Amino acid sequence: MVYSQAKVIAGGLAHIPIVIAVFYFIMTFFNKRALEFAEANKPKKPEAKKEAKTKVETKPVAAMNTEPPKPAKKKHADVPVNIYRPKTPFEGTVTGNYSLLKEGAIGRVNHITFDLKESDPFLNYVEGQSIGIMPAGEDANGKPHKLRLYSIASTRHGDNFEGNTVSLCVRQLQYEKDGETVNGVCSTYLCDIKPGDKVKITGPVGKEMLLPDEEDANIVMLATGTGIAPMRAYLRRMFEATEKEKNKWNFKGKAWLFMGAPKSANLLYEEDLQRYLESYPDNFKYTKAISREQQNAKGGRMYIQDRVLESANELFNMIEDEKTHIYLCGLKGMEPGIDEAMTKAAEEKGLNWSELRPQLKKAGRWHVETY
Ligand code: FAD
Ligand code: A2P
Repeated sequence: MVYSQAKVIAGGLAHIPIVIAVFYFIMTFFNKRALEFAEANKPKKPEAKKEAKTKVETKPVAAMNTEPPKPAKKKHADVPVNIYRPKTPFEGTVTGNYSLLKEGAIGRVNHITFDLKESDPFLNYVEGQSIGIMPAGEDANGKPHKLRLYSIASTRHGDNFEGNTVSLCVRQLQYEKDGETVNGVCSTYLCDIKPGDKVKITGPVGKEMLLPDEEDANIVMLATGTGIAPMRAYLRRMFEATEKEKNKWNFKGKAWLFMGAPKSANLLYEEDLQRYLESYPDNFKYTKAISREQQNAKGGRMYIQDRVLESANELFNMIEDEKTHIYLCGLKGMEPGIDEAMTKAAEEKGLNWSELRPQLKKAGRWHVETY
């Protein structure tokens, strides 16, 4: 039999649907088997989890917490910051400005208070924070002066205990250049202002120097000059009678102030500190380093780091107690000296300061604000 080429092609094409149908049946069969196999071998939920789920479901509805989980509260989230910024500062009124120095002292250091009553929103702050001051006038380029920061020297209740003032402790910066005395812009402006003057204030800022909440914390304070400002606020909070009535913070720990000043006449807030010593001999210790009247063991100027070394054992017994916080404030230049003294003092106790310091910092127990 002879087939034409056209017949062969037509016959081939006629088989295609049959081949597709056979192929479809085979695929359907295997897919079904594969699904059945997968279902049969699905991993089972562990029994324990099933049990836990059952327990939750049987809890009475009233006892269940239907609120979405709250994010963990950030540390010091309640501490006010930047209520006033440089573009919109608050204009506070000066209520007092007086010298803190005695006859024969070196330089100028003043205690200055501003009324905050009119601030809206209210400029509130806590102990250990700073505020910014924008001095009047313009710089050499005709631009308004930039703000300078100053540690707050009052408690949140203010020196009048009415909770509407803020006080600073300011040293006038003075140095010699090319045979002439240069006066610092802002510190001179502040030391010269008079009651009734208006001053541009920003802030508050800073969370580095805050006090712990615990009433049985121990507070070691290392201050040079105006570095006493935040310490004055802490000590008032701890020991000043009316302030204590207001704050209801019954400090039961030990506070130890190391204070560095060039001369006795430069010691700041001395009468208050002596009063606290008399009233709280078991809670307050005060160690002075009067650099130009006292000598260290090497015959040099007596600095607070020399006093730290003298008290190494007692100090490190305190530091080993996890309730102890250390605050360092004042001249930036003292940091290497303090570090060196702490290294030596730690060695005497068999401790390694370069390891210990970061641990204290991490634990929020080492607080530094130098300038
Ligand atoms: P400026 O006119 O700004 O002059 C300062 C500049 O003068 C320096 O930047 C430097 O360039 C130059 N200068 C300074 N000394 C010399 C020198 N010996 N030789 C040559 N050039 C020199 N100060 C306080 O009095 N009390 C406080 O409680 C206080 N708290 C502070 C808290 C913080 C967090 C900070 C950062 C600083 C604090 N200060 C405090 C310092 C304060 O902010 C000012 O820096 C200080 O008052 C000087 O400002 P000024 O405008 O008077 O000086
Ligand atoms: P001195 O100036 O005699 O060298 P004030 O701010 O009132 O001047 O006080 C600062 C105190 O800190 C002064 O007694 C000053 O001493 C002292 N001081 C200066 N440099 C250091 C330093 N590197 N370490 C510790 N104390 C210092």
